[in-house]
Amino acid sequence: MAGASKPCTTASFVADQVEQIREQVGSGLAICGLSGGVDSAVSAALVQRAIGDQLTCVFVDHGLLRKGEREQVEQDFVAATGAKLVVVDAVEHFLGFLAGVSDPEEKRKIIGREFINVFTNAASAISSESEVRFLVQGTIYPDVVESGVGDGLSNVKSHHNVGGLPPGVKFELVEPLRMLYKTGVRQVGSYLGLPDQIVQRHPFPGPGLGIRVVGAVDAERLRILREADAIVREEIAAGLGADVWQFPVVLLADVRSVGVSDDARTYGYPVVLRPVMSTDAMTADWVKLPYDVIERLSRRITSEVPEVNRVVLDVTPKPPGTIEWE
Ligand code: XMP
Repeated sequence: MAGASKPCTTASFVADQVEQIREQVGSGLAICGLSGGVDSAVSAALVQRAIGDQLTCVFVDHGLLRKGEREQVEQDFVAATGAKLVVVDAVEHFLGFLAGVSDPEEKRKIIGREFINVFTNAASAISSESEVRFLVQGTIYPDVVESGVGDGLSNVKSHHNVGGLPPGVKFELVEPLRMLYKTGVRQVGSYLGLPDQIVQRHPFPGPGLGIRVVGAVDAERLRILREADAIVREEIAAGLGADVWQFPVVLLADVRSVGVSDDARTYGYPVVLRPVMSTDAMTADWVKLPYDVIERLSRRITSEVPEVNRVVLDVTPKPPGTIEWE
């Protein structure tokens, strides 16, 4: 299996980690922030395997999730792992702070800051009942390398990773995946019985759909984007998966254009399709999707999401474009 340590099988990796986690945590209590992403889900599953109910998973619904994502964690993740889960509904909280904010960096900062606040509050509520000493994180080998060396791009966008260690909150870290690359993480996830929808998930930014609504974020705009995004995911799940590394769908919320539907004028939003191929997200190229796929996506989005009357394709490599629009 892919790893930075000596080669080993998935089974022996899991057995070793289970032993090490038990040794580290003993009879203590741990929490883990789930982001809906692969790394946090697999580390939580691994730690759950090692210490069972001594682990509590925390999932913050910030209202910027994709369609069905919260249910996937609440139902599929819990069914697959038996993990103890606390879901924090912070939708109104985040939308309140984001109201009227259209600057991308400001949005990112608000989302990152409030995520830490909400997560810290949830962690203290759990801790107030019993002493929690350990925080499980889905750090993987490229994160370790990147934080040691710096990627030279840190000023392009202020990245925020959900599940990060809240400053001022003192936990001992448990990072069972820190010697693995993504492929290895996926192998461990499958071995632990996590469903493919979780294990094979495309990368998704911590600030979620908040940075895919270009312009100010509100519940209605998020709903429109969520519908368009769900159609794209459905279509690529139906056969294009391997050729597309990531497929942001972006709502240009401050732009309207004139269209026509059933002989009547429309004045709707444009949606941008941004399918990219990449290996490390530092550079990327746009994917030359087959015309029939583009046609199907365009037809489905404009007919199933009435607020959208135009679908455009982003044909910019990175650089000069970044993968996300914000
Ligand atoms: P850009 O847009 O900079 O994105 O080309 C590169 C990769 O990073 C993801 N991304 C993020 N991931 N927190 C994350 O965890 C973030 O704040 C964030 N911003 C961008 C993006 O989806 C792409 O995979």
